[in-house]
Amino acid sequence: MSQQRFFRFLQERIGLDVESVGVPMVERALRQRCVALNAANLDDYWLRLQQSADEQQALIEAVIVPETWFFRYPESFTALAGLAHKRLAELAGERPLRLLSLPCSTGEEPYSLAMALLDAGLNPATFQIDAMDISPNSVAKAVQAVYGRNSFRGSDLAFRERHFVDVGDSHQLDERVRQQVRFEVGNVLDPILASRNGQYDFVFCRNLLIYFDVQTQQRVFEVLKRLVHTEGVLFIGPAEGSLLARLGMRPLGIAQSFAYVRQPADAPIAAPQPLRSASPLPPATPIAPSRPAPAPRPRPATPLAAPVAAPRESESELLASIARQANAGDSVQARASCQRYLREFAPKAQVYYWLGLLSDTEGDAAQALSHYRKALYLEPQHPEALLHLATLLAAQGDSAGARRLQERAARVGRESER
Ligand SMILES: C[S@@+](CC[C@H](N)C(=O)[O-])C[C@H]1O[C@@H](n2cnc3c(N)ncnc32)[C@H](O)[C@@H]1O
Repeated sequence: MSQQRFFRFLQERIGLDVESVGVPMVERALRQRCVALNAANLDDYWLRLQQSADEQQALIEAVIVPETWFFRYPESFTALAGLAHKRLAELAGERPLRLLSLPCSTGEEPYSLAMALLDAGLNPATFQIDAMDISPNSVAKAVQAVYGRNSFRGSDLAFRERHFVDVGDSHQLDERVRQQVRFEVGNVLDPILASRNGQYDFVFCRNLLIYFDVQTQQRVFEVLKRLVHTEGVLFIGPAEGSLLARLGMRPLGIAQSFAYVRQPADAPIAAPQPLRSASPLPPATPIAPSRPAPAPRPRPATPLAAPVAAPRESESELLASIARQANAGDSVQARASCQRYLREFAPKAQVYYWLGLLSDTEGDAAQALSHYRKALYLEPQHPEALLHLATLLAAQGDSAGARRLQERAARVGRESER
């Protein structure tokens, strides 16, 4: 098929597994680029792509997902502040702390690292943050450090008062924070990164691996593991952890922080431990109650002497609450709301999918599998459940099962496009 060569190009250059973002999305990007260049057809566009490094970059820009915001997964920043104090004490002034945010997208993540450390009382001279992304456009925006509403999500926005000044409808970040971060354009697959092996006390690599196939994920995890100092900590995105255990890393055990350290050399390599306390649900992208709701199941009769409660939320209000709670990282509440939904209304694939994500981020793969499977039983074409279940199966070594689910998700994407 004439598109396959473009998919291969994207896979080789940036690791993108086209199935992860959906074939229709990449086809749209190809059409856009053909129009922009006035290319007669895909063959013509392929030739132009081969001849121009700028066009290669333009195609990459058209397919990347730059979605990010400040203090995404807030608990990881709280965890970082504590760990940074400890690490500084260990270093005893020998050198500043070194951090890496890869991919940094438009800068919200590395700047959040800087704000968290400054707010925790660290002297600016005691730490330095490198930030890298494959997209020159995103990096240019990061350097400008002017942000609109979309970059500020969740309920606690006090940091905006402390570190930004208003410029019209936007917010400009203070110089004091900006100077802590050094931005560069770069590719996580570039072998040159090996020159930095062992350099970083803290590496943040979140919401990148979900766009890679299993082999590329493994390759990138090896790169990340080497970049982190032996005493350092690797922060990843929720649901990206299953593979790490197989590479000799273990969760640090701080709930909702998705932080991993090296397994001691003599310790057996184990499956990830479920985190005990309140669990997270910051999803890869904000979730919204997207599908129309089925008719509610008849409710059981109200028990006698039932406590007088606040007026019951309608089905759509409850779905909206779950999405809001999940996006704000309030996973305890999100889980409780999911369970309430299942008590009060007919079972819904989206709700089981959210529960799966919750269990996934807690490291409870068995529960996550069961929830994703229920979601797919109710809605065999649920795209996110298909992809997440595929990732879990792949992490458990079932590559054939994973591939089948990915293909199913791709078919769903193509059908919805038609
Ligand atoms: C969803 S954003 C994640 C940003 C941030 N880490 C977060 O979690 O909010 C994904 C980013 O990965 C970048 N990216 C994709 N492939 C990459 C690669 N091979 N090397 C470096 N960055 C890449 C994209 O440009 C995009 O900005």
